Amino acid sequence: MNPVKWFVKALLLSCFFHLSLSFDTITSQHSIKDGDVVVSSGNTFALGFFSPGNTKYRYVGIWYYQIPKKTVVWVANREHPINDTSGTLSISSQGNLVLYQKNQTILVWSTNPSVTHSKNSVARLLDSGNLLLVHNGTTFWQSFDYPSNTVLPFMKIGLNLSTGLNRFVTPWKSPDNPGIGNYTYKIDPSGFPQLCFYKGSVKFWRGGSWTGRRWVGVPEMTRSHIFNFSFVYNNEEIFLMFGINNASIISILVANETGLLTRFTWNPEDQRWVLVWSAPKEECDYYGHCGPNSNCDQTHEDKLECSCLPGFEPKSPQTWFLRDWSAGCARKRNASICQHGEGFVKVARVKVPDTAVANADMSLGLKQCKDKCLRNCSCTAYASAFSELNGETGCLTWHGDLVDIKTYRDAGQDIYIRVDAVDLASYKKNGTISKKQLVTILVVSVAVMLSMVAFAFILVRRIRRGRKRRPPLSFTASPTHLEDPLNGKNAELPLFNLGTIAAATNNFSSDNKLGQGGFGPVYKGILSGKETAVKRLSKSSGQGIEEFKNEVTLIAKLQHRNLVRILGCCIEKEEKMLIYEYLPNKSLDSFIFDERKRSLLDWGTRFKIFCGIARGIVYLHQDSRLRIIHRDLKASNILLDAEMNPKISDFGMARIFGGDQVEAKTKRVVGTYGYMSPEYAMQGHFSVKSDVYSFGVLLLEIITGRRNIGYYPDSPTSNFIGHVWEVWRNGKAMEIIDSLLGGTYPVAEVLRCIQIGLLCVQDSATDRPKMSVVVAMLGNDASLPSPKQPAFIIKKTNKNDETGSSEGTGSVNEVTLTMPQAR
Ligand SMILES: *[C@@H]1O[C@H](CO)[C@@H](O)[C@H](O)[C@H]1NC(C)=O
Ligand SMILES: *[C@@H]1O[C@H](CO)[C@@H](O)[C@H](O)[C@H]1NC(C)=O
Ligand SMILES: *[C@@H]1O[C@H](CO)[C@@H](O)[C@H](O)[C@H]1NC(C)=O
Ligand SMILES: *[C@@H]1O[C@H](CO)[C@@H](O)[C@H](O)[C@H]1NC(C)=O
Ligand SMILES: *[C@@H]1O[C@H](CO)[C@@H](O)[C@H](O)[C@H]1NC(C)=O
Ligand SMILES: *[C@@H]1O[C@H](CO)[C@@H](O)[C@H](O)[C@H]1NC(C)=O
Ligand SMILES: *[C@@H]1O[C@H](CO)[C@@H](O)[C@H](O)[C@H]1NC(C)=O
Ligand SMILES: *[C@@H]1O[C@H](CO)[C@@H](O)[C@H](O)[C@H]1NC(C)=O
Ligand SMILES: *[C@@H]1O[C@H](CO)[C@@H](O)[C@H](O)[C@H]1NC(C)=O
Ligand SMILES: *[C@@H]1O[C@H](CO)[C@@H](O)[C@H](O)[C@H]1NC(C)=O
Repeated sequence: MNPVKWFVKALLLSCFFHLSLSFDTITSQHSIKDGDVVVSSGNTFALGFFSPGNTKYRYVGIWYYQIPKKTVVWVANREHPINDTSGTLSISSQGNLVLYQKNQTILVWSTNPSVTHSKNSVARLLDSGNLLLVHNGTTFWQSFDYPSNTVLPFMKIGLNLSTGLNRFVTPWKSPDNPGIGNYTYKIDPSGFPQLCFYKGSVKFWRGGSWTGRRWVGVPEMTRSHIFNFSFVYNNEEIFLMFGINNASIISILVANETGLLTRFTWNPEDQRWVLVWSAPKEECDYYGHCGPNSNCDQTHEDKLECSCLPGFEPKSPQTWFLRDWSAGCARKRNASICQHGEGFVKVARVKVPDTAVANADMSLGLKQCKDKCLRNCSCTAYASAFSELNGETGCLTWHGDLVDIKTYRDAGQDIYIRVDAVDLASYKKNGTISKKQLVTILVVSVAVMLSMVAFAFILVRRIRRGRKRRPPLSFTASPTHLEDPLNGKNAELPLFNLGTIAAATNNFSSDNKLGQGGFGPVYKGILSGKETAVKRLSKSSGQGIEEFKNEVTLIAKLQHRNLVRILGCCIEKEEKMLIYEYLPNKSLDSFIFDERKRSLLDWGTRFKIFCGIARGIVYLHQDSRLRIIHRDLKASNILLDAEMNPKISDFGMARIFGGDQVEAKTKRVVGTYGYMSPEYAMQGHFSVKSDVYSFGVLLLEIITGRRNIGYYPDSPTSNFIGHVWEVWRNGKAMEIIDSLLGGTYPVAEVLRCIQIGLLCVQDSATDRPKMSVVVAMLGNDASLPSPKQPAFIIKKTNKNDETGSSEGTGSVNEVTLTMPQAR
């Protein structure tokens, strides 16, 4: 024989010999030892010995034969590793599949069929990944009944009710150890069946009950051209099976040892598994995240996720507002439930609460379901059992706490929560509107619109006439009329002479001095028997007299109840003065930075103050014809009248002095830089959004009662805004609310205002809301966006400089600005 031919023959023979070891069966004659594999007939799966991760221990498992990265989908001896390569897998004389170590001396693992058979049984690996033990045509054991961490297509997850067999999935202990991990993914048959993920014996995540098309808690689960699901629920069995219509697609569901349920699909081009779905994802997915009788809703990014169900209130308000939701909610009124007049309030698009404690009656429709629930005093809620099966069928009723409700944006089903007559009335009022009501509303609104048009018409005419004969300011003091440069008509700003002012202020005596503002000292003066404030502007105004007059005249026309009124001015020689109305309560900083006076400011007053400031700024920014940017908003520039109404002062100074001048000034004014937006502090860029920034700082100062240049021992590298941000982000915003505010304030509203403050001080000017939007936010309780990280003006802390808290750090040179990092 030709040696080459002989060699080829030998090669073929050896190939044949190798192939003979890769048959898809194990029989009593043909066992396998470590190193051999059994391959399913279509070469899809292989069975053999393997070592996971970094261990040397040997396990018998099933993996995808053609996927290079060994993906083990089933393990026989999960809890009993073999510490050498002496294992053999064979059919025992009783017909069991058995795994021995050390030449048949140590039994490591065995199937345990209830009926013993002859040794003629055969173990066969199918292309589905199922390993069957068959005798005389009957399967009496299959690996699909004992899943490991992976659900393969066409594998049943669920129960055979006649035998009690429950097929469930458990993750490995670790990537190195396929032992049974702490989580269980299974169908809980109690009450109304649902899919649950347990940690130990505690529910951890709930896929929820079956809606007819999907688990209510897995909205992503849709029948597609790739997947089809079937859920079977009858007297014999309860199970879910997922199928794949196209056999060339490989997709598996894996329970991860970290407590995640993950679905992967094989991408043959990139040769890798692609994660296509996982759960739990967000807080609301964790079982009972909000405690009993609450609703977890993360569809609004800017809202806290937990809220009480209709008719319920936080069981422990204190911890609830600290965002410890675990206590959940309790009925507002116990006694009034189950008396006449109560009914149900619909909560839409939810994962219905834990059905383990629900009663199911498949024979009832939704209407009968409601009647059933209404009749039974202990019934707390009802819903359809199968909400997506031929309309709505079946009836679920709950008779106790409602646990683990989650709201979806556009999935889930409706649940009806029992409420008493009081709540029913209030929800009816806010809730759905009947057709009759709708018609009434339409008629009324048309009527209102017509009358508004008429009113506006009259108003316009009045205004036109009014302009012509507006009464002069009720102030008398040798008024010299200035020209109104806009209209060319006479303006009514009184011009005082220096002598009058000097007399009124006792010749600018220090006894009369009210304070020192950014643009010069302010004196109290009595003019024509009335108290006024006289601001003696420093001499550095760059303007000529005519320009100055023009500006003052313009600014004096800005009239708003939250702006300090300008009553007149005085221009003589080098002197320029503005005469303002006098406000007895002085400036806001004298209140909020003084413990005794601050304690007089209750929440209502503080709220009134910053709402007023906000309205004043809106007027400056957009409602007045000048569109003034204030540029120096701060507590000392807010004056308070006798009723504690805030009035903004020093507006328009930038126009009077010219922008550069103000910048120069503010650099010298200690503390003002704390109100300066980063773009202004860094580049001198000013816009309405820099005023918004300053307002945000002011708002936070009013709520916290702290100065923005204080020192924060708990976050020493940060400044005031940084500190508020940190505390807020850690969910501890309660801690920074001024302790002198006392116990009686609406916590939610205060937290909301802190959030508004943080929105105003966001780093990017474009992210900050316009002032008109801020006013709207303060005025309603619609949801707010989440603030982004503010600009941190980080104080350089010098180890030797213990005066870090003082105002000595007041120059721009000593602050460094770190731009927020992307998260
Ligand atoms: C391997 O396992 C067997 C049986 O559990 C045990 O008797 C033997 O001591 C082990 N050998 C080593 C090296 O751990
Ligand atoms: C295994 O045990 C059988 C008898 O039980 C013996 O004949 C055989 O030589 C042993 N093989 C090895 C490799 O120890
Ligand atoms: C095999 O099964 C058939 C019917 O399914 C039965 O008649 C026959 O006796 C069985 N044979 C053995 C050896 O169990
Ligand atoms: C449940 O298990 C028993 C015993 O294995 C079997 O006879 C029966 O067919 C199973 N029921 C279903 C619905 O699979
Ligand atoms: C399982 O739970 C036990 C007890 O709670 C813990 O000691 C162990 O580390 C957990 N194992 C894993 C794999 O998480
Ligand atoms: C999915 O559809 C295929 C083809 O129609 C069918 O063979 C399979 O049984 C279905 N699988 C499930 C789980 O319903
Ligand atoms: C099945 O999937 C493969 C690969 O994605 C594709 O090439 C093939 O056309 C599909 N077959 C059918 C019947 O959809
Ligand atoms: C579980 O998740 C971890 C981290 O993502 C990953 O390293 C590990 O491979 C996963 N395990 C399985 C079985 O997918
Ligand atoms: C209502 O009853 C529950 C349980 O009986 C109790 O825990 C709760 O405090 C009661 N609530 C009110 C408002 O009385
Ligand atoms: C109310 O429902 C509960 C739970 O199903 C049941 O135990 C109780 O008997 C019912 N009460 C009445 C009055 O029907």
